[in-house]
Amino acid sequence: MISHNKPTLGLEEEEAAIRVIRSGWVAKGEEVKSFENEFCNFVGLPKGHAVAVSNGTAALYLAVLALDGSGKKIASPGYVCSALRHAVDMSKGENVLIDTEYDSPNIDLKTVYYKNIPIAIIPHTYGIPINLSNLKKIMVIEDCSHALGAKINGKSVGLQGELGIMSLAATKMITSGGSGGMLVSKNKQLIEKIIDYIEYDMKKDDNKRFNFQMNDLQAAIGREQLRKLPDFLTRREEIFQKYKIAGLDLLDISPVDAQTIQPVRFRAVLKTKKQFEIIKLLKEHDITSRVLNDEWLISQNPKQFPNSFSMVQNSVSLPIYPSLSDEDVEKIISVLVN
Ligand SMILES: Cc1ncc(COP(=O)(O)O)c(C=O)c1O
Repeated sequence: MISHNKPTLGLEEEEAAIRVIRSGWVAKGEEVKSFENEFCNFVGLPKGHAVAVSNGTAALYLAVLALDGSGKKIASPGYVCSALRHAVDMSKGENVLIDTEYDSPNIDLKTVYYKNIPIAIIPHTYGIPINLSNLKKIMVIEDCSHALGAKINGKSVGLQGELGIMSLAATKMITSGGSGGMLVSKNKQLIEKIIDYIEYDMKKDDNKRFNFQMNDLQAAIGREQLRKLPDFLTRREEIFQKYKIAGLDLLDISPVDAQTIQPVRFRAVLKTKKQFEIIKLLKEHDITSRVLNDEWLISQNPKQFPNSFSMVQNSVSLPIYPSLSDEDVEKIISVLVN
């Protein structure tokens, strides 16, 4: 069976895990610090501008808290992992869920702008980055969970707003051992506020805090994955281009954005009116494909989210990950193209 998604873990991650276990220190320590600093280097920030956490949902929750989002309206797309709106709920923000732009998996920025909302969580869905330079007077949490490695005007995603967050779960661009998250910011004070919150014990005041720390075992695996990320990006691009050259109509950046925007190929999403036939056909050939973000919010509210509804109905996500072999890619193509 060809899986829809798979983490690409090897000997280096195994050795890193063994190194940490043998060191006798598996809690949050030097590996986490090194991972945070290497992450800063990757996105183009000085050391000390990142904090590693237990998962992406925690990163979102902490980002909202750091921006004092409790009691405030917070915009995010409906067409996305439910973690976003749950994180807003948990931090006592008020969710304002917005439709995607027509024929795009990304949030409709014009609506965000005109609703006059103080905070927005903006994901770069499926690795297609959005340029946020026109989004003024709104505090932005960039959700780069799908887009680590993507660039806007030559700069990494995650730096356009107040905070950038990433999930490092098993199926993301890189994983810190199955789960993990990272926050980055140009504003070091926001990072320090989050560190104070997750380092919860032995404090001199009674402020609310919670343990959302990453541990050294996760960080050591994450560091190896970060080193491999450039190769992962290349392999994902190769697979994406093979699909495109074969004639598959995949969601991609618009040609007008090509000058300024460099996507990463987190997902290969086929645009099609024959969704169920295609999933069935692929399954008959032992290939797993998926309908993404197909949950009650969109299916029960098609009028509120017409573009998202159309995206759910008219797309199929195909396998794309670094360890997918050329043979498997050819098989997928031959099933779909013949
Ligand atoms: C865009 C996005 N943000 C956040 C999350 C939540 O991350 P985690 O699963 O690490 O909590 C996900 C999860 O899939 C996601 O797709």
